Amino acid sequence: MRRTVIAGNWKMNMTPSQTKAFIKELSPMVKGRDKCDIVLCVPFVDIAVAAEAAEGTNIKIGAQNIHFKESGAYTGEISADMLKEAGAEYVVIGHSERRQYFGETDETVNLRVKAALAAGFKVILCLGEVKEQRLAGITDEVVSMQTKLDLAGVSEDQLSRVIIAYEPVWAIGTGLTATPEQADETCGVIRSVIGKIYSAKASEDIVIQYGGSMNDSNAAELLSKPNVDGGLIGGASLKTDKFTAIVKAAN
Ligand code: PGA
Repeated sequence: MRRTVIAGNWKMNMTPSQTKAFIKELSPMVKGRDKCDIVLCVPFVDIAVAAEAAEGTNIKIGAQNIHFKESGAYTGEISADMLKEAGAEYVVIGHSERRQYFGETDETVNLRVKAALAAGFKVILCLGEVKEQRLAGITDEVVSMQTKLDLAGVSEDQLSRVIIAYEPVWAIGTGLTATPEQADETCGVIRSVIGKIYSAKASEDIVIQYGGSMNDSNAAELLSKPNVDGGLIGGASLKTDKFTAIVKAAN
């Protein structure tokens, strides 16, 4: 049985003091909701505060990016050691906003994935098609290619620490959600690619989330689909009541 993983992606929101207050408020609200894993992926400067506030709760903390070199002249980047010491357990890699605005490619995504896995992190690998690709009917090809390129050189053993977040770019932050059928179908395509490049067991075991305007009113239906094992949630993860409602939908 696959675990359901509900992960918040705060993006560039929340200061350290806001982070502390948020987790203090959230933790009693999601206490005992243990049928899913709960993760908050927060800005770098919030990680240490978040990890401390989440200690002893069922909330896990993640980062939103990681660099692939151990250290050195990479101004503005953050290494695996830094993230680990700060208290991050998960790391989001390849988010479409990184790909769109910061020049991230499948090649750099792959380097980051490999570095994060080698350092012991759990990876939330984001991929998904843009609107033009969906309209052109090439969604399956796009997500298949991204899955293969982004996971190149990742062993089946390491894959057990990879979660894939299928995020149609046209659904992110737009209020447009993929229909539960579209989400299920494309998550299923990704699952079958995993079956081809790894094994039937790997395809059965891999956790695949849906992301893109998931909220308290559509989560239950999306999560009820067999190929959708959780959600990566942006906007709705910034409010404790909305995020809790999604956690409850997963329970
Ligand atoms: P959204 O963001 O829920 O605000 O659409 C999802 C994401 O970008 O991970």
